[in-house]
Amino acid sequence: MAYKQDYKALAQRMKEIQEMQKKVAQNMARIKHKLVVLSGKGGVGKSFVTASLATALASKGYKVGVFDADIHGPSIPKMLGLKEGTGLYATFNGIQPAVGALGVKVVSIGLLIPSEDTPVIWRGPMKTGAIRQLLAEVDWGELDILLIDLPPGTGDEQLTIAQLIHGLTGSVIVTIPSEVSKVVVKKAIAFTNRLNIPVIGIVENMTYFECPDGTKHYIFGKGAAEELAKEFKINYLGGVPIDPRIREANDAGQVFFLEYPDSPASKAFLDIANKVIEYLKQHEETSN
Ligand SMILES: Nc1ncnc2c1ncn2[C@@H]1O[C@H](COP(=O)(O)OP(=O)(O)OP(=O)(O)O)[C@@H](O)[C@H]1O
Ligand SMILES: [Mg+2]
Repeated sequence: MAYKQDYKALAQRMKEIQEMQKKVAQNMARIKHKLVVLSGKGGVGKSFVTASLATALASKGYKVGVFDADIHGPSIPKMLGLKEGTGLYATFNGIQPAVGALGVKVVSIGLLIPSEDTPVIWRGPMKTGAIRQLLAEVDWGELDILLIDLPPGTGDEQLTIAQLIHGLTGSVIVTIPSEVSKVVVKKAIAFTNRLNIPVIGIVENMTYFECPDGTKHYIFGKGAAEELAKEFKINYLGGVPIDPRIREANDAGQVFFLEYPDSPASKAFLDIANKVIEYLKQHEETSN
């Protein structure tokens, strides 16, 4: 008897998940381009790159959204200038994203938890469930580009999230120039290949540090990302220098791209944004 009830509950749950997945597909179909930002390993500046690319694209007039799928380290809201205490609210049309710098729309688990010190203690199915629900129910409105900040790594969690979103335009891989990262980038490329997601290109973060006298120091090594791009015949989108003001701005909840528009890092992001736009235009032409 209990066995029969368990089966019924399971069948009901499966039905709910299928319906939710249908809603995700409908919701995502309204967005022109969906891009995942990924890195094989953590701490390489993936969230900073996502936030800065979003503002650079928005500064060029594109309607941009960022979905922060990193449940354990949701740093995107702060990097896009959202004040602590900003939340998400629902209307008849669905969950409304928060609006950050330059009108960039933001959805993050960070906007659902009471404070940034609150740890999110969720197991895999709960995490995917929350992400599925957000993807299904957020009302993004009109959007040209949605950037999805995936959690670091190329494991099960990243796979589940990437598979949830059908019709991804491509991936942006973020790395730092060390030899170790080369191995990790190869994993990230293999990951996207496995999912049939085209690689838009590689962004190298922390490429060099420039001293006040103008000399550049390639602290982690030189040329690794460009070499990889050549080896795998993918685009090298550009390098972003190390700048202590980046960490300071991020920690203080300031938007680096707006605070320091003339910095080499912000200029690099404008250049990266141009290359991404070029790729998206080509993609539009070939898919029309
Ligand atoms: N080019 C840079 N120069 C100086 N500091 C940087 C640079 N890029 C990122 N940072 C700093 O490095 C730290 C890590 O960046 P970020 O949170 O974007 O990395 P991440 O790859 O998203 O990390 P996680 O794996 O935890 O999600 C942050 O404190 C950020 O401010
Ligand atoms: Mg991050």
